[in-house]
Amino acid sequence: MNHEKNECVIITIDMRIDLMTLFPDLAENVFNDALFAIARSKDLMDYRVHNIRDYTHDKHRTVDDYPFGGGAGMLMKPEPIFEAVEDVLSDKGPDEEVPIVLMTPQGEKLTHKLVQEFASYKRLVIICGHYEGVDERVREHLVTHEVSIGDYVLSGGELPAFVLCDAISRLIPGVLGSDESAQTDSYADGLLEYPQYTRPPVYRGWEVPEVLLSGHHGNVDKWRRKESLKRTMERRPDLLEGFEYSKADLKLLKEIQNEGDK
Ligand SMILES: C[S@@+](CC[C@H](N)C(=O)[O-])C[C@H]1O[C@@H](n2cnc3c(N)ncnc32)[C@H](O)[C@@H]1O
Repeated sequence: MNHEKNECVIITIDMRIDLMTLFPDLAENVFNDALFAIARSKDLMDYRVHNIRDYTHDKHRTVDDYPFGGGAGMLMKPEPIFEAVEDVLSDKGPDEEVPIVLMTPQGEKLTHKLVQEFASYKRLVIICGHYEGVDERVREHLVTHEVSIGDYVLSGGELPAFVLCDAISRLIPGVLGSDESAQTDSYADGLLEYPQYTRPPVYRGWEVPEVLLSGHHGNVDKWRRKESLKRTMERRPDLLEGFEYSKADLKLLKEIQNEGDK
């Protein structure tokens, strides 16, 4: 209740993420800072942190055990993970679709497209693994998605989960200072972003391209699009496979080609 105005204030959060972790303090600290804190303060994102250890039933609060068949390290046991996720989802509506994401180096590589897909849901559950990972039955019978942030192995799923949460949050309208930022960022339209400059116009003799100082918006847009195309061709030609060029793009490509031929 808003007592000053004596009226009810209904808060609608755009998206809720439930993070299942063995390191709740780390997660709370992260979610209380930077972009996450802004998204929270604007009531656009709700990040809820759950300690998987709270779902154990023995006095040592055991979350890991030796792998059957031997081998190095410990594995996260299935029971506390299943119970934690089931408890968190107990208030889920019957038709509500909530992806349950396991962070794992064996998952689908995170891309802008996948982030967009997750950002389209109202709720998401993320499971952070640790030790040698999680019992296979978690992957087989609980999770709906397995996501990797790259072909390397970290010691826990928390940092990958923060990467995913950050990437999703900046796509939620209102979280960034300007929603246009997310639309012009690399990958948003399939290309890498154009080069950017700020003041001073000359630094150590290195000049900012003249067109950016011209105040001519049409020319600036054309220059940026051309640089985006050029940069993507040079650095990530794989992104251009199947890319749908506009007529204007094809003209710019010709210009780029002609400049290269000189
Ligand atoms: C040491 S790793 C386990 C690696 C596992 N033994 C394997 O070889 O696939 C521990 C946890 O860190 C997280 N993790 C590590 N690297 C990751 C990556 N590249 N992407 C997403 N999660 C990762 C996962 O949650 C994983 O369960």
